[in-house]
Amino acid sequence: HRHLLGIAGLGPHEILFLLDEAEQWIALNRGAAKHDNRLAGLTQINAFFENSTRTLLSFEIAGKRLGMDVVNMHAATSSVKKGETLIDTAITLNAMRPDVIVIRHEASGAVQLIADKVDCPVLNAGDGRHEHPTQALLDALTIRRRKGRVAGLTIAICGDVLHSRVARSNILALGTLGADVRVVGPPTLLPPQVERMGVTAFTDFDAGLEGADVVMMLRLQRERMAGGFVPSEREYHALYGLTPERLARAAPDALVMHPGPMNRGIEIASSVADDLNRSAIPEQVEMGVAMRMACLDVLTRARRGVAGW
Ligand code: CP
Repeated sequence: HRHLLGIAGLGPHEILFLLDEAEQWIALNRGAAKHDNRLAGLTQINAFFENSTRTLLSFEIAGKRLGMDVVNMHAATSSVKKGETLIDTAITLNAMRPDVIVIRHEASGAVQLIADKVDCPVLNAGDGRHEHPTQALLDALTIRRRKGRVAGLTIAICGDVLHSRVARSNILALGTLGADVRVVGPPTLLPPQVERMGVTAFTDFDAGLEGADVVMMLRLQRERMAGGFVPSEREYHALYGLTPERLARAAPDALVMHPGPMNRGIEIASSVADDLNRSAIPEQVEMGVAMRMACLDVLTRARRGVAGW
């Protein structure tokens, strides 16, 4: 694969290979000297057309720890604001001869469009409702480290599945790795015919949580609900908010996850999010740096004359 545009199309061995590659960076990141510099001399452009804290910073840190020259293009302060098209932006970035481009965009498919116009590998950092592959990989890495495996686990992905690229990529990744994946949410926030993705759908939160080994909460994405159904926050929390009482329905050692940013008091109670015996939320962020180092290393191998994947 030249690019990493989604989990779709990756087989279990390819996903496991990326998880295995990430393991080596966890120890480096926890040490005093955090640099490897194997990608010294390469240039990484992070082009973010949509807001981000975790993904942008972790890709920047990952690139710098591997020795790359990393530059960030924020759409809000770029010539996109003067009307430059996506294609012209892609051609412009490509002319600067980057070795890897990381893109986030609010439109599903925009990252593919750019990937088709440039000469270097492109990594999708989230496109619309479509995919957020590095999030799913870091989530799978977190689960494997905490639970020792992914295959055979019951994983409930809960909340606003309809608008979630994180849910889509996780359904694909965790399903490919052999997990029993459930999606749980109000009928208005579940994609039509979601069962076709190989998951079991629940609209009753308590039933969907029953016996789950991993409870992955999703952010209520109000910015993607224009013209559609917008639930009231109080009602949503009452029916679909993860509280300690609700969590008691899951397996006694169930792991709580959230990709962030969280809406505290809406999809997740603070007491659940902050209980680090149960919650892996900060660990997900830590795994994000290691996972993105692995992806940057692996995706640039062909350019460096190193055997790819
Ligand atoms: N999980 C995630 O993508 O977070 P950011 O939007 O902060 O990058």
